[in-house]
Amino acid sequence: MNTEHKNAFGMIGLGTMGSNLLQNIADHGYKCAGYDISTDKVAALNKLNPEAIQGFTDMNDFIDSLSSPKVVMLLVPAGKIVDGVIEELLEVLEKGDIIIDGGNSHFIDTDRRFKDLEKQGYHFIGMGVSGGEEGARRGPSMMPGGDQNAYEIVKPILTKIAAQVKGDPTVAYMGERSAGHFVKMVHNGIEYAIMQLISETYEILKNGLHMRPDAIHTIFKEWNEGRLQSYLIEITRDILAYKKKGSDHLLLDDIKDEAKSKGTGKWTSQAAMDLNLPIPIIDIAVSMRDLSKYKNLRTKASKLYPDSEGTHPSHNNDEQVHQLELAFYFAMVSAYAQGMHLLHRANEVYDYKLNLDVIAKIWRGGCIIRSKFLEDIYGAYQNNAKLEHLFIDSAIHQNLRESTQGIRSIVSEATQNGIAVPAFAAALGYFDNFRNENMPANLIQAQRDYFGSHTYELKGKEGTFHTEWEAGNS
Ligand code: 6PG
Repeated sequence: MNTEHKNAFGMIGLGTMGSNLLQNIADHGYKCAGYDISTDKVAALNKLNPEAIQGFTDMNDFIDSLSSPKVVMLLVPAGKIVDGVIEELLEVLEKGDIIIDGGNSHFIDTDRRFKDLEKQGYHFIGMGVSGGEEGARRGPSMMPGGDQNAYEIVKPILTKIAAQVKGDPTVAYMGERSAGHFVKMVHNGIEYAIMQLISETYEILKNGLHMRPDAIHTIFKEWNEGRLQSYLIEITRDILAYKKKGSDHLLLDDIKDEAKSKGTGKWTSQAAMDLNLPIPIIDIAVSMRDLSKYKNLRTKASKLYPDSEGTHPSHNNDEQVHQLELAFYFAMVSAYAQGMHLLHRANEVYDYKLNLDVIAKIWRGGCIIRSKFLEDIYGAYQNNAKLEHLFIDSAIHQNLRESTQGIRSIVSEATQNGIAVPAFAAALGYFDNFRNENMPANLIQAQRDYFGSHTYELKGKEGTFHTEWEAGNS
């Protein structure tokens, strides 16, 4: 087959993401191919754009249709399936060909695959892809990591299919080995935290301030026109107006209050704990999704502890909503700051060679956590590429200070009235300790030494010390 007629890009896995990405690639003038074991999916793909996209159920024909070096991207469920597909691919690819794993793979798996494939002479890119169906079709944000030479080969295609923000594509090489999947994992951790904050905000407006759905919709609409503008606020605005044809209430009211997850939030918390790096707002978001699954237990407890003990809120809703905007801003900053701090630490420990400004830059569009505030984050890291924590940046510091009052007021009002705001409270508690030069951790050290002779260090003195505490004061 003449190379000119061959396909420039191959996709394995023709689910929603795979088939939409292929259409996006084809829109940008590239011939491409898709492979799936499902004949239905392949048949559906073959109807989309037959001039530019070919579907295959035979692996050999699929691979044979690609120009060299062959570029094959996997969009299949994370885990064993990825290993299985790679194994199959190694029988048909040649050394020098490029495999891209575009799923939400765990970064430890990506490290292993990268090493194995490099040893065997294949190029491997672990790439986070964000933006859901619409992103895949019209422009996702992509976080490739691993083999940089291979990235340079696929860069022209990825650059064209990415979303564009102010003329810049939302794709860039992230760093070595599993850097791309690590960055995507943290993206998802931040996504979990912001979704939890939005759900707590909805709870305050609905059950704390007793607002009607249309009033809540209006608040999210207004917020989306201001500094809180973001994809997640935007879709929440729409959800809060969505009624099924003929229905007198929101579809949202019919949806079960049990949140599911595929694991990337949990992995973020696990990875952070392994690095001893605190991200409590993400941890709490993961835990609250888990708590939501205990519906029966919650139902029993709701009877045992009816909510009659709270004081009643003052009913100046405008003022409360103003405070809530400040609180949301504060906690949202904290969610991004904790996520970026994790990336900063992971970069030191895993030597990924990440550039945090580049990460902020490619998150400004296409991905689920895109927001106006990412411009400020981008600016902060452009000013100081080595910035350890966003709270230290002077512009962010000023805005945080101005919104502290709001989060204090919301957390205290809500807790007084029995409205659960664990993510807001975690953001505030994290902040109050973050700015605390003298945390009460000295007491923890004393306790550890008391019951386990774990020793402690003293202010202004070298070495470690132990005390026989039970012997009394000396
Ligand atoms: C994205 C999303 C996506 C993720 C879903 C569902 O960036 O496009 O992060 O990758 O799979 O949001 O995640 P959960 O099922 O864990 O909520």
